[in-house]
Amino acid sequence: MELKPKPHFLFTLFSFLLLATTSSSLSTPPSDSSSSSLSPAKNSSLSPSSSSPSPSSSTLDPKQLRALQSLNIPTTRDPCIQPSLHNATLCDNSKPFKHLLFLRLINCSDDISLSFTALKSLYTLQDLEFINCPVTPVHFPSELVASLRSFTCIKSLKKLTGVWLKNLANLTELTVSGVTVNASGPSIILGSMKKLRSMTISHTNLTGFLPKRWHLNLTHIDLSANQLRGKIPSSLTLLGDLELLNLSSNSISGEIPTSFGDLLSLQNVSLASNSLSGSIPDSMSAMPGLVHLDLSSNQLNGTIPKFLSELKDLKYLNLADNNFKGVLPFNMSFIERLEVFKVGGNSDLCYNHSVLSSKLKLGIAPCDKHGLPLSPPPARSSDSSDDSSSSDDSDYNDSSDGSNHGSDHHHGPNKVVLGVAIGLSSIQEGFGSHLCSVGDSSLCGVHKNCSSLVDVSWSEC
Ligand SMILES: *[C@@H]1O[C@H](CO)[C@@H](O)[C@H](O)[C@H]1NC(C)=O
Ligand SMILES: *[C@@H]1O[C@H](CO)[C@@H](O)[C@H](O)[C@H]1NC(C)=O
Ligand SMILES: *[C@@H]1O[C@H](CO)[C@@H](O)[C@H](O)[C@H]1NC(C)=O
Ligand SMILES: *[C@@H]1O[C@H](CO)[C@@H](O)[C@H](O)[C@H]1NC(C)=O
Ligand SMILES: *[C@@H]1O[C@H](CO)[C@@H](O)[C@H](O)[C@H]1NC(C)=O
Ligand SMILES: *[C@@H]1O[C@H](CO)[C@@H](O)[C@H](O)[C@H]1NC(C)=O
Ligand SMILES: *[C@@H]1O[C@H](CO)[C@@H](O)[C@H](O)[C@H]1NC(C)=O
Ligand SMILES: *[C@@H]1O[C@H](CO)[C@@H](O)[C@H](O)[C@H]1NC(C)=O
Ligand SMILES: *[C@@H]1O[C@H](CO)[C@@H](O)[C@H](O)[C@H]1NC(C)=O
Ligand SMILES: *[C@@H]1O[C@H](CO)[C@@H](O)[C@H](O)[C@H]1NC(C)=O
Ligand SMILES: *[C@@H]1O[C@H](CO)[C@@H](O)[C@H](O)[C@H]1NC(C)=O
Ligand SMILES: *[C@@H]1O[C@H](CO)[C@@H](O)[C@H](O)[C@H]1NC(C)=O
Repeated sequence: MELKPKPHFLFTLFSFLLLATTSSSLSTPPSDSSSSSLSPAKNSSLSPSSSSPSPSSSTLDPKQLRALQSLNIPTTRDPCIQPSLHNATLCDNSKPFKHLLFLRLINCSDDISLSFTALKSLYTLQDLEFINCPVTPVHFPSELVASLRSFTCIKSLKKLTGVWLKNLANLTELTVSGVTVNASGPSIILGSMKKLRSMTISHTNLTGFLPKRWHLNLTHIDLSANQLRGKIPSSLTLLGDLELLNLSSNSISGEIPTSFGDLLSLQNVSLASNSLSGSIPDSMSAMPGLVHLDLSSNQLNGTIPKFLSELKDLKYLNLADNNFKGVLPFNMSFIERLEVFKVGGNSDLCYNHSVLSSKLKLGIAPCDKHGLPLSPPPARSSDSSDDSSSSDDSDYNDSSDGSNHGSDHHHGPNKVVLGVAIGLSSIQEGFGSHLCSVGDSSLCGVHKNCSSLVDVSWSEC
């Protein structure tokens, strides 16, 4: 979900405006005295109280000014002077009047309505955003459709349909989030937008299947938190420019395509919270720029491949809540270099305690000499110095959030008396304090405060 304005786009426009303003003040004597003077006067012109604000002095095209007024956007201050009120508008530099390139409608009041006429006069907009603006959608005039490059609708427009969206055929960027989209699937929307590069349709309850055909220029696909089902089509792996793929929280099933590693530009990927099965494809060893890999909460199986530790840029790795088995193939230095590492919730997975410290709190059991998880002996609490915690310490019975409850009483290589609460509390300070703030609780493993222990950036806190 992209909630932020696109900085690059805004920056480009902004520098263009700056450049244009500079050159126009050099070439033509400005008619408006305030724009020719230095910053104090310019400053005062921005303040409605100190100058006489009259819409007629605006540099914006009068028709567009009226359209803004009909949308309840204050125009006492020239919407073309930057920074505009709430940064909601940006203009071009055309003569004699400027025209709007960007408009953001945010936190709309109930009484505004989108009129076709107003939208028709906004035919110069390249970027239109609705944020928390539950107005009734209307058909967009063709002039506006032709001009629009970027469209954002977050918790706005009450309800959208695929048919309505697919009309916006010239978009390179589409963001729809937190509003119901009734469509037979993403294909109907994608099919008409031949220039699309970035697509977010997230938290919309969109149903249907993933498209079999994609535009090869897509760089961002976020279809998270919908009701998509079926398999991941292998045609998706032809998207050589794809940097972000988020299919999390759907009902996608089947295996990850064996050609997944063909996505050579991929940096961030989440396939989390679906029904994927099978193993991690070998081809993923060749994904040079992978930074963020989230495969959590599926039914993936097989062993965890060692090549993941050779991905140089990896910062986030979440394999929790799957059916992975065998010995975790990672060493201490790899795990500590990550910002987030989760493997809990894989009951057949274990770690080699002569390679990894139990203090990492991985949420999985240590291995026995055969590489199988040591199951917690029922008599554990009585033979381990009997600290108060171990009675309700469920040890290797992994929590679903991937955090570990067990401190490794039996296999810890050091001589600290782990069973004693004071001993544990000092470990908590020495090691755990980097992981989370435990307040006055001495035992992280049994304390809810720390349940997301492995979540926390290891280098930061
Ligand atoms: C411009 O106005 C702002 C806020 O009113 C004020 O903080 C700032 O000092 C002013 N700058 C100049 C150059 O007058
Ligand atoms: C407007 O944008 C500028 C530059 O990005 C930012 O510094 C400023 O805080 C923004 N103002 C508002 C009201 O959002
Ligand atoms: C919109 O509403 C949100 C939440 O109420 C608030 O945080 C935000 O500042 C508002 N933005 C504007 C531009 O009014
Ligand atoms: C898309 O934009 C081009 C010009 O950039 C224009 O010729 C074309 O008609 C537009 N397409 C639609 C469907 O509006
Ligand atoms: C999606 O469906 C759920 C369950 O029916 C509902 O609670 C939620 O509000 C819907 N969300 C949207 C954005 O339509
Ligand atoms: C979605 O659109 C179809 C066809 O227009 C309609 O039959 C169906 O009732 C709509 N579903 C919802 C939940 O509005
Ligand atoms: C894809 O991008 C390339 C280079 O950026 C461009 O030449 C080509 O026309 C684009 N293709 C489509 C279908 O937009
Ligand atoms: C994927 O989307 C979910 C929900 O929209 C979000 O919480 C998560 O951070 C996203 N992950 C990536 C890798 O973009
Ligand atoms: C892994 O899952 C696949 C697909 O469900 C299944 O065919 C295979 O037998 C499983 N392998 C193991 C080792 O469980
Ligand atoms: C990609 O993932 C990294 C690491 O989790 C994160 O810092 C970054 O913001 C993500 N980028 C995008 C575009 O989501
Ligand atoms: C840890 O694993 C990485 C990747 O497999 C490897 O490059 C590195 O040499 C290992 N470090 C140690 C101390 O064994
Ligand atoms: C654990 O690591 C040690 C030292 O690298 C090795 O000798 C041993 O075989 C490993 N145990 C398992 C079960 O992989």
